[in-house]
Amino acid sequence: MTVHLSDYTPFSHPVESVALTFRLAPRATRVQSVIRFGQGGTTLRLDGEGLTLIRAAIDGQPVDAAPDATGLTLTVPDAPFVLETEVEIAPEGNTALEGLYMSNGMYCTQCEAEGFRKITFYPDRPDVMAPFRVRIESDMPVMLSNGNPVAQGNGWAEWDDPWPKPAYLFALVAGELVAHSDRFTTMNGDDVALNIWVRPGDEDRCAYAMNSLIRSMKWDEQVYGRAYDLSVFNIVAVDDFNMGAMENKGLNIFNSKYVLALPETATDDDFARIEAIIAHEYFHNWTGNRITCRDWFQLCLKEGLTVYRDQQFSADMRSASVKRIEDVLTLRARQFREDAGPLAHPVRPEAYEEINNFYTATVYEKGAELIGMLKLLVGDDAYRRALDLYFERHDGQACTIEDWLTVFQDATGRDLTQFKRWYSEAGTPRVSVDETWEEGVFTLTLSQDGQKIIPVAVGLLGPDGTEVVPTQVLELTKHRQDFRFEGLAARPVASVLRGFSAPVILDRSMTAQDRAFLLAHDTDAFNRWEAGRTLAKDVMARLVTDGAAPPAMWLDAVAAVATDDALDPAFRALALRLPAEDDMAQTLHQGGVTPDPDRIHAARRQMALALAERLRDALPALVAPVAGPWSPDAAQAGQRAFRMQALGLLSRLNGGAEAQRVFDAATNMTEEVGALSALLEVGAGDAALGVFARKWGDDRIVMDKWFSLQILHAADAPAVARQLTEHPRFDWKNPNRFRALFGALAGNHAGFHRADGSGYRLLANWLIRLDPVNPQTAARMSQAFEGWPRMDADRQGLMRAELERILAVPSLSRDLSEMARRMAGRRK
Ligand code: TRP
Ligand code: ZN
Repeated sequence: MTVHLSDYTPFSHPVESVALTFRLAPRATRVQSVIRFGQGGTTLRLDGEGLTLIRAAIDGQPVDAAPDATGLTLTVPDAPFVLETEVEIAPEGNTALEGLYMSNGMYCTQCEAEGFRKITFYPDRPDVMAPFRVRIESDMPVMLSNGNPVAQGNGWAEWDDPWPKPAYLFALVAGELVAHSDRFTTMNGDDVALNIWVRPGDEDRCAYAMNSLIRSMKWDEQVYGRAYDLSVFNIVAVDDFNMGAMENKGLNIFNSKYVLALPETATDDDFARIEAIIAHEYFHNWTGNRITCRDWFQLCLKEGLTVYRDQQFSADMRSASVKRIEDVLTLRARQFREDAGPLAHPVRPEAYEEINNFYTATVYEKGAELIGMLKLLVGDDAYRRALDLYFERHDGQACTIEDWLTVFQDATGRDLTQFKRWYSEAGTPRVSVDETWEEGVFTLTLSQDGQKIIPVAVGLLGPDGTEVVPTQVLELTKHRQDFRFEGLAARPVASVLRGFSAPVILDRSMTAQDRAFLLAHDTDAFNRWEAGRTLAKDVMARLVTDGAAPPAMWLDAVAAVATDDALDPAFRALALRLPAEDDMAQTLHQGGVTPDPDRIHAARRQMALALAERLRDALPALVAPVAGPWSPDAAQAGQRAFRMQALGLLSRLNGGAEAQRVFDAATNMTEEVGALSALLEVGAGDAALGVFARKWGDDRIVMDKWFSLQILHAADAPAVARQLTEHPRFDWKNPNRFRALFGALAGNHAGFHRADGSGYRLLANWLIRLDPVNPQTAARMSQAFEGWPRMDADRQGLMRAELERILAVPSLSRDLSEMARRMAGRRK
C-alpha cells in the first residue's frame, strides 16, 4: 500500500512507441492500443484499473490475459515485441474526473498522476517516455489530442506527438467546441497556431487568457531562452475539473474558471490568477514535459520550479514587490500551516499511499521558495547558466532532485550538500535575531533551530530613515553566527529577511516604535509591509489576550501609509488589510497561546472599526471611483483593491450606505463583489445577494462567488452553509461548486470553529458523501481539519471525533483514508 522513495527501480522494458485508437461512446468507449516494446525479459507488468479487457495479442498472436484489480501480467518474448490490446471503458459514469470522463457532454481526460491506467493497460509511471500517435473516432465536431494534427475526416481525427512523454501527459478532448484563435511566431521563426477551445457562447471570454498565453511564450524565450516546439498549442476549458489546470503536451486542459473572464464576470484577482495559471501550464512545456520526473517523489522538480517561474513572470508583468507580498501571504496561510500540523512533509516526500494527496502547498509553494533561495545563493548569472545546463543536459529525460542539484554544482562550483536538507526536512525553520551596538559596531546575531543554509537578506537604515547599508545576503550556515557592521555613525535599525529571502519564521523582539519606523521608511517594500503586518499582529494578540485597545501609534502608522498618495495603491491596499483570523491563530499558537476563534474574530472587527474611525475624514475621498476606461492592468487593479479596502472600512461607519451605491453602480466584478462583501460584513447584504443571484443565476463561475461570499461573511457560517446545500443550484458533484461552499466554510475561521462543532460536523458529513463520487476532491477538502492540534481541548475533541467518524466509514477511498489517518495521527 505504501510507496517508498527508497524502493525505486527502473521499468523492465523500454517503450519505443504507442498508437491509440479511441471509439468514443458515453457508456462503452473502446480503446485499442499498439505498443512497441524493446527487450526487457519475459515478464511484463502493466498498470490498469477498471478496464474491461476485450482482447490482447503479442506480435499478432492472441494471448490469454487475465487482469487483476491493478493491472495485467504477461509473459512476453525476450526480444522486442508489439503488444496490442483493446479495452472498454465508460466515461459517462466517471465522476472521479480521473482518466477519460465527460463534462457537459464533452469528453476529456485527466491523467496526472495515475489516471492513464484507467484508460488502457500501460506502464503508468513518469520515467517511461514514448512518442504517441492517436486516432479518435466520434460524432463530435472537435477532436483533439497531444502534438500536431496529422489528418482528419468526417467522424475521425489523428494526432501525432513526436516528443517522447510519460503517460500522465496524455490528453484527449472531443466535444462541441468553438475556438478563440491566434498565432505566435517563435524566436526560431516557427509559426504556432494557438487555440482556446470553449463551449459555444463562451468565445468572447477568452481574450485575456490568450493574451496571457502570448506574453508567457514571449517571456519564456526572453528570460529562459525556451521556445515552443509544436505547430499548435491548444487549451480547452472544462467545467468539471479537480484542480486548476493540467499541462498535457500541446493540449493544456483548464478548469474553466481559470480561462473565462470578462470585466463583468471576473475580479482583478481572477484576472491575475488566469495570467499566472496560463503561464504556469505553458512553462511546464520545458519544466515538466521536456524534462520530467523520474518518479512522483520528485514532483517538486517540476512543480516547485514551475511555480517559481510563474511567480517570476507575474512579478515582471505586474509589481514585483506586491507580487512577493501576495506570494508570502499564501505561503504562510497554506504552507506554514501545513508544515506546522499533522500533514507536514518534506518538499520531497519519502513515502505515500496516494500520490494525489501530495500535490500540496509544501511541494508547490515551498518547492518554489527553494528555487528562489538557490538563485539568491548563486546569483542571477549563475542561476541562468545552471538552467541552461539543466535544459541541455537533461532534455528528454526523467530526472531527480539529485540531477537538479548536480547541475547547480557543476555550473557554479558550489557545494550544495547542506542546501539539500531543505528537500528532506519537514517543518518551518525558526531563525532568531539578536542585535548589539557597541563602540560603533553593529552586530547582528542570527541563530537557527536546524542546520540548514539560510540566505538572510539584510539592509540597515540610519536614524533619519535613509539606508546606510544596502541589501546584502548573509548566509546562515551554522547554528549561530555573528555578522558585524562597522563604520556606522549611529545605531541603525536593521531590516532583516528582506524580500522574505527564506521561508522561515523570524523570532525578533522589536519595539513597536522600531516597527513603525520600518513601516514608514524601509526601502525594501516587502519588509515595509511586513513591519506593518507584525505590528498589526502584536496589536491583535494583545486585544485577544488582555483586551488592550488598538493603540494610537498603530492607527497613526497605518493611516500614514493609507493616506500617502505617493505610494502604490496596491501596496496601500495590502497595508490596510488586517491579518487573517487563521493566520493570527497560527501566530498565537507559535507563541504558546491557545487561540480562541471568537476572541480573534472580535479583535479583528474591533481593529477594523478603530481604523475606520481613525480614517473617518479621509475615507470618502478614498472610495472615489477609479478614473478611466476599465483595464485589467496591475495599476488599475491596485486602485480598485485600495478603493474596496476603503469601502469596507467606510461601511463600518455608515452601515453600508456607500457600499450599496457602489454595488448598484458597479460595472465590473471586482467592485460588485467588493461592495457585496462590504455589505455582508455589516449585515446589510440581503437585498444585494438577491440582485446578484437574479443577475448571474445561470453563470456557474460567477455563482460560485455568490455561494462563497455569504458563507465567508456569515456570523453563523455552518447554518448558512447547510442551508445553501439545499439550494437548487448546489450541484455538489461539481468540484468548483463543492469548493465554493465548503472552502468558504473552512475559510470562515470563527464559523468553522464554532464551539458547538456544527462546522466540523457539516463538513465531515459532506466529505463522507463526496468520497465515493470524487475521492480526490474529498481528500483535498478534508485538509480543513489539519489545524486541530492548535485548538483548545473541547474543539480538539470535536475535530478528532469527526476524523474518527470519517475513518469508520466502510470502503473509504485510499485518498480520504490516508488524509484522515495522517491528520488523526494514526499510523495504520
Ligand atoms: N500538474 C498540474 C499543475 O501543476 C496539477 C495537477 C496534478 C492536476 N494533478 C492533477 C490537475 C489532477 C488536475 C487534476 O498544473
Ligand atoms: Zn504545475
